[in-house]
This record gives sequence, C-alpha cells and structure tokens, in this order.
Amino acid sequence: MRVWDDPDLPPSRDVLLREVQEVDGLLCLLTDAVDDKVIAAGRKLRVISNYAVGYDNVDVAAATARGIMVCNTPGVLTETTADLAWTLLMAAARRIVEADAHLRGGEWKSWSPQLMLGQDIHGATLGLVGLGRIGEAVARRARGFGMRLLYADAARKPEVEAACRAEFVDLETLLRTADFVSLHTPLTEETRHLIGAEQLSWMKPTAVLINTSRGPVVDQQALAEVLREGRIFAAGLDVFESEPIPTDDPLLELDNVILLPHIASASVATRTKMANMAADNLIDGLGGQRPTNLVNPEVMSS
Ligand code: DGY
Repeated sequence: MRVWDDPDLPPSRDVLLREVQEVDGLLCLLTDAVDDKVIAAGRKLRVISNYAVGYDNVDVAAATARGIMVCNTPGVLTETTADLAWTLLMAAARRIVEADAHLRGGEWKSWSPQLMLGQDIHGATLGLVGLGRIGEAVARRARGFGMRLLYADAARKPEVEAACRAEFVDLETLLRTADFVSLHTPLTEETRHLIGAEQLSWMKPTAVLINTSRGPVVDQQALAEVLREGRIFAAGLDVFESEPIPTDDPLLELDNVILLPHIASASVATRTKMANMAADNLIDGLGGQRPTNLVNPEVMSS
C-alpha cells in the first residue's frame, strides 16, 4: 500500500501519474484530478474510491470505459453539510463575521439603532436549488424558522416536496422570490455557472446567496461584482471556482461575503465516517464484491 501522507497538500500531478501506474485501487480526495490521463496511466486500476460525495474530480465516463469502478461517500455527510449551510446562512444574514471584526477592531463605540443591521431569517422565503439529500436536510431545518420553502430541480420530487412542504418553481421564479438562496446541486456540464450574471440580476437586493455545493456552479466574478455593487445583500461561500481561493481574488476585499475553506463536512464524526466508507468501498471493490456506493454500476455487467 502506498500512502500520500502530507496532511495539507495533495500529491502533484506528476506524483499521481507515476503512482497510479502501480496500483489496483485508488483512494482519492476531491483535490485529486482523476481525469482520463490518470485513468489511462492506471493500467492495473480496478477501483477509484473518492473520499467525498461529489465526484466531479473523477472522469467517470473514462473509468467506466475501462471497466473501473468509481465510488463515493453519500449520506454520512448530509446532516453535517446542512448544518454548515445554515451556519453560513445565519452568519451572512446577521453579519456575524463583520460584527465580530468590528468589535475586535475597537470600532464599537456604543449601542446604536443602526449598528450592523441584517436580514430576518424567521418567516422569510428560502429557495433551494437542488432538493437532493442535502437540500432536503437544509429544508427540514427551515421549518423551525417558519420559512416558506421553494425549490428548483431538474425533476420534481413529490414525496420530499410533501414532507418538507416545499413548492416546486423554475429557477427564475425562485431567484426573484427567495430571501435566501442555497445551492445543493452537483457540478455537471449543465450546472456549471448555473448562477451567472443574469441569474444574479434576478435576486432581490436584500437576498443572501449560500453555496456549499461546488464553486463552479456560480460565476464567481459575476458574484463579486454584484456583491461589490450591493445588488444582493450578502453571500456565504464554502466552495470556489479555484481552491484554494487565489490571494488576489476580489471576494477577499468584500465585507458582505463570508468565505470558508471548503469545510462543510468537517466534523470529527463525519470525516471519520467518510474515511471508513471510502475504505470499505475500496476493499469491497478489490475483493470482487459490489461496493455499497458505486456510482457507475454498469461496470458490474461489463
Ligand atoms: C463532498 O463530499 O463532496 C464535499 O464537498 C466534501 O465533503
């Protein structure tokens, strides 16, 4: 077994291309671009086990074409990720990071009627783009705040819709109506820049955008402009078009956006479950059994 043990940095592309040549199974992170070249270099490769629910870093079509299993870690991170989406939503709505910096910076002179005014969460309308597992977990939490729920998705989900009392609408209606918009869609060619300049222009000036899905779902440059011009109230982002975010990114200059280093699933318990699940998927696949979380089951029949 070969282990890349740097806790902070992923292996370089050269290392990945070299090491993959010798292995039957690969347990990789979302920071590893397992594209067609890496897959072609893995001449003995039988299983790719991704330590994440999202697997946009893996070229599944290329793996499937070579009969290689691809696995992910769904379910175990749902609630932890929903918790963080709510953390961002509440912190952005009530300007928590800005207020903390204001106090620590010695700027707090007195209680003031106008100090750090934010947006109410209770009774507001929450729009979910994607009502899969994580979207649904975010929706469940909204009931405690007496929120109206809207959702947009590729397909209607009547059972979840009924359980969460969510209304199915098109994306434009959602963006024009919601006070809070939270993104819970996988990154695909269809969802890349799903939220671009036009879509952002539909949002209310008081609205808050939350992204815990994948960075490229949002046109980040367009978002930075909209935030700079105050055309939406705030945003809370855990994911970026390029990670880590470049040190000269315009978002870093703005007070009305909270930026987190892709930590939505980062609780001790959840990361442990993800690690175990990724290891189990790998062991099962290498042992000739069908892994529980196989994203390309068609390889089993080939
Ligand atoms: C995932 O699993 O896809 C998250 O982005 C990291 O937990």
